[in-house]
This record gives sequence, structure tokens and C-alpha cells, in this order.
Amino acid sequence: MSAPAKVTVATLRARKAAGERIVMVTATDYSLARIADEAGVDVLLVGDSLGMVALGYDSTLPVTMEEMLVFTRAVVRGATRALVVGDMPFLSYQVSLEEARRNAGRFVKEGGAAAVKLEGGADVADAAAAIVAMGIPVMGHLGLTPQSVHAMGGHRVQGRDEEGARRIVEGAQALEAAGAFAIVLEGMPRALAARVTAAVRVPTIGIGAGPGCDGQVLVAHDLLGLYGGHRPKFAKRYGDCGGEAARAFRQYCDEVRGGLFPDEEHSYD
Ligand code: KIV
Repeated sequence: MSAPAKVTVATLRARKAAGERIVMVTATDYSLARIADEAGVDVLLVGDSLGMVALGYDSTLPVTMEEMLVFTRAVVRGATRALVVGDMPFLSYQVSLEEARRNAGRFVKEGGAAAVKLEGGADVADAAAAIVAMGIPVMGHLGLTPQSVHAMGGHRVQGRDEEGARRIVEGAQALEAAGAFAIVLEGMPRALAARVTAAVRVPTIGIGAGPGCDGQVLVAHDLLGLYGGHRPKFAKRYGDCGGEAARAFRQYCDEVRGGLFPDEEHSYD
């Protein structure tokens, strides 16, 4: 059987044109990436939320380029079909265009990613354009942008008033003009996400932004029930892998302590 066709940025553009929804999920390691890829997920985002769900930080701010590259390489090894997008961590693209270009290049050259994502609107359009000009596809991210948690006063829904909403719409248009191939819309009223989706030709991918986007993304650890920290209202749980893991660990403890494991079946003669 021939390998399934790789998802590219052109595939995603065609999906929007055809009115077909895009499925994106975060991934942190080889095994999870493989499972999600084989299940038919289109885009694997090596999101900097891994700082919280995989590294145990209390925000995404401490995540470094070196950490992101380790996780990106693992996800790329597990992905056969899905497009892998590396999430540029805080301070990797905001300081200068030179740093933005170099760090985006590292995601592709050292991480093996096919695209990068950065947070912000008109304020990061220059960085997005500079990276696109190097031949690296850029995904934008607007609304609730976790790297700006302190400026937002917490993880709050954005764009509730007209001025904030207009800033988000204009941010999306600036990112599109800069050459972004898709834009994540996080934590905003559903009507605003639908308005942004109608205002740009590139696909929008929502998370906590209602059904009017061209695709959806969830953090895999939320979707699978693996993360014990705060779970926002929009993070639907599709499984209880955390509960199943806890059950398996408890049974293992009991069997080792009770002398039931290893048994005949799991021992060599
Ligand atoms: O880091 C992340 O997981 C993200 C998604 C929430 C879009 O940026």
C-alpha cells in the first residue's frame, strides 16, 4: 500500500476553498504523534503549551528554543502524513528580525518542522514576513495569546469590545498580508471568530473560538485527559487516558508487591 499523501500548506488552502474542516492537535512526543497521525489528524502543532503539560511549568513563558527543538524532532519522527508546525517560544522572535529568522530556521533545519507559528497580530507582521521570505511557512495566532498572559491580566477571552475585536480582525489581515498560511484564533467570542474567518482568505483554526472557523485545534493532553492542571471550558475531553494510566500503575504496584509479576509468561527459561 502506498504512503498517504503528506499534508502541506497547499492542502490546507484547498481545504478552506472546498469548505472542508482542518483538524489540528498538539503533540509532544514520538508515540503521541504517531497515534494522532495514524488517526488522520492533519496538522501536529508542537505547541509551547508543552511547557505546562510536559515540563510542568506554570506558564509557557519559560520554554526555550532548545526544549522546543527536542520535542519537535520527536514529533517529526512520529509523523508520516501530518504537517508538523513548530511553535516559536517567548523571546525567540520578538527581539529582532534577525533572531526571528534564525530561530524559525532552526525549527526547520534542526527540528525538521515544515512550518512555524508565532503569537500576535500587526505587531509581529514584520517578523512573519521576514520568515516567509526565507521560504518558511508561518501560522499566526490571535486572541488569547498565552505568551502575553501578563499584559492580558490572565488567560482571558479577548475581543469582547469593538475596539479589541477590530484589533483582532486587523491583526488577521496584517498576518495574511505578511504571507501567513493559516491563523489560530484562541479564546474569543464565536461571532468574532466567524467575522475574522470571513475577513481573510487563509484558513482559521479555532480553539475556544466556536464553530465558525475553518478548523479546530486542541491540546492533546486536554483531549486525552492526561493533564491534571486547569482545563478551560472549551477543552472537550475525548478520553480518560490519565485515569487508565493511573489504574495500570496501581495494578502494577499491587502485582509487584504481591509477587504476581513477573509470572511464568513474562520470564525467560
Ligand atoms: O501551544 C499551544 O498548544 C498552542 C495552541 C493552544 C494553539 O498554541
